Amino acid sequence: MSQTIESIKTYPAATTEQIKGAMDEAVSIVRQDLPVFTDKFPDSNSKDGFYPPTENVEWTTGFWTGCIWLSYEYTKDPAFREAATKQVDSFLNRIEKRIDVNHHDMGFLYSLSCVAAYKLTGNENAKKAALLAADNLISRFRTVGNFLQAWGTTGDPKEYRLIIDCLLNLPLLYWATEVSGNPDYAAKAEAHIQTAMKCVVRPDNSTYHTHFLDIKTGEPTYGVTHQGNRNGSAWARGQSWGVYGIALSYRYLKNPEYIDLFCRVTDYFLEHLPEDLVPYWDFDFDTGSTEPRDSSASAVAICGILEMCKYLPEEKAATYRAAAERLMRALIEKCANTDFTKSNGILLHGTYARDTPTNTCKNRGVDECNTWGDYFYMEALTRFLNPDWKLYW
Ligand code: GLY
Repeated sequence: MSQTIESIKTYPAATTEQIKGAMDEAVSIVRQDLPVFTDKFPDSNSKDGFYPPTENVEWTTGFWTGCIWLSYEYTKDPAFREAATKQVDSFLNRIEKRIDVNHHDMGFLYSLSCVAAYKLTGNENAKKAALLAADNLISRFRTVGNFLQAWGTTGDPKEYRLIIDCLLNLPLLYWATEVSGNPDYAAKAEAHIQTAMKCVVRPDNSTYHTHFLDIKTGEPTYGVTHQGNRNGSAWARGQSWGVYGIALSYRYLKNPEYIDLFCRVTDYFLEHLPEDLVPYWDFDFDTGSTEPRDSSASAVAICGILEMCKYLPEEKAATYRAAAERLMRALIEKCANTDFTKSNGILLHGTYARDTPTNTCKNRGVDECNTWGDYFYMEALTRFLNPDWKLYW
């Protein structure tokens, strides 16, 4: 542990001018990317700084559409609206044809593309697509254990687990209940977060990435990592999914238990930041390590902190907001791309996955941009510039 919330306050905070400049730069990158990434999508992570184009597959394409919607809101330029609306059609086609949707990441995909489109423009195709995605997500709910199964064929004993990332998929279900009037979506989301919190938050407030449940009794059995350094470590992005995921469920459910959980998980995140405030990809690593960073984890955590500050008592909120302002400055100064000839991404120094002896990953997107890092960085900037920003989540 190398920080305290108090020590973070000794760093300089991002200024409004800096945040505005960073948003201008990010929107200019989105604009320059549009000719390639309107009919196609950027791959999950850049390679040597540049995103290769892909079809609408994987769990990550919604982040790019989200970047376009944020650019549209910031500039009101119809070119962004047209491009994002085109992508909505692709998302409707994807869910109708069931292209790469046998997993739980419907919220990551559909909240930022289609729920955003519906909220901003009233697009009925977007609403239809997002409701179909919500149906697909609740079809993964397991009544033995009360959770949304992350991966694989539902009911497969080898895949009988949840992962912390799924907390970001829950807002799609809260939204689906709001627009359809069917309480089942939100009820399943609430049941899932109750189970997830029981499983993934450890006594020291670090988190497991994934947790198995007993297929016969539904009892939590054991936690393992998929993308972290080891089973018992705190994968930085997983911890940040906890920070933002808890804040988002609190927004919809107002369960007071989530306030304490939020503070515990967030404090762990902040207290384990290295001296320059840009997290290594796993909190096993600290100041001076040669391991890569994961800038995206910081961007996700900033969004979660700013969301939760709306509901915390003012003194507590001011402390967390001050921390978020420092993390934001560190990202702007150390990770923002300012040269389109070197990268077509927005936020440098992310890590998708790192190969270690105990996890199940190959090196992927190490010290590269990734689409969620770009999105959450822009969302964080948007939140600072407009505290009344209406969420896509
Ligand atoms: N949800 C997968 C990841 O964060 O890489």
